[in-house]
Amino acid sequence: MKPKVQPTGVEIPLSDDDLIVSKTDTKGRIVYANKVLIDVTGYQEEELLGIQHNIIRHPDMPRGMFKLLWDYIRNGDEYNGFIKNLCKNGSFYWVYTNVTPSYDASGNLIGYYSARRKCKPEALQVIEPLYRDMLSAEKRAGAREAIDASMAVLNSLLADKGVSYDELVCTLQD
Ligand SMILES: Cc1cc2nc3c(=O)[nH]c(=O)nc-3n(C[C@H](O)[C@H](O)[C@H](O)COP(=O)(O)O)c2cc1C
Repeated sequence: MKPKVQPTGVEIPLSDDDLIVSKTDTKGRIVYANKVLIDVTGYQEEELLGIQHNIIRHPDMPRGMFKLLWDYIRNGDEYNGFIKNLCKNGSFYWVYTNVTPSYDASGNLIGYYSARRKCKPEALQVIEPLYRDMLSAEKRAGAREAIDASMAVLNSLLADKGVSYDELVCTLQD
C-alpha cells in the first residue's frame, strides 16, 4: 500500500556523480533499486521491492507527465524528462530521468530500466513553472479532462518554442 507522506518542502540536494537506478516489471512495480535510491528516498529495500513506483510520486507532479512517460515506454521508445520525487520523510528531490524498455533474448518485454541524475538548475527554471501550469490546468479541468488540459499546456509551450518534447528536455539538460 502507498504510504501517506506529507511533503515538507525540504529539498535533498544531489551531487553531480549521484546515479539513481531502478528497474520495474512491465506493470511499474519496483524489482531493483540501487543504494543511492534507497539512501536518497529513505526507504528500506524491502519497502520498495514489489511496490509500484508511484510510492515516491510527489503531488506537485502533473499526471500528464506520467501519461507521457508511459506512452513513450509502452511504445518501445526511450523517455527522458524531469521528475520531482517524494522521500519517505516528506523531503523532495528533482531528477533528470531516462526510462527504457528491457527485453529478454527472444525480444519479449520484461520490464523497464531507469537511471537518473541531478537536474541542471537552469532547466528547473523552465520546468517548475511549466509543471505548476500543467497541474493547475488539471485541477481546473477535473479528473476526466485533466490529461488533455495538461497536455494542452505542454503543447502550447512546445509550439511557442518551436521544438518537440525531446528537443526541449535534451536542450534544457544539455
Ligand atoms: C522504470 C520506471 C521508473 C519510474 N520512476 C518514477 C519516479 O522516479 N517517480 C515517479 O513518481 N514515478 C515514476 N514512474 C512512474 C510511475 O510508475 C507512475 O506512473 C507515477 O508515479 C504516477 O503514478 P499514479 O498515477 O499511480 O499516481 C516510473 C515508471 C517506470 C516504469
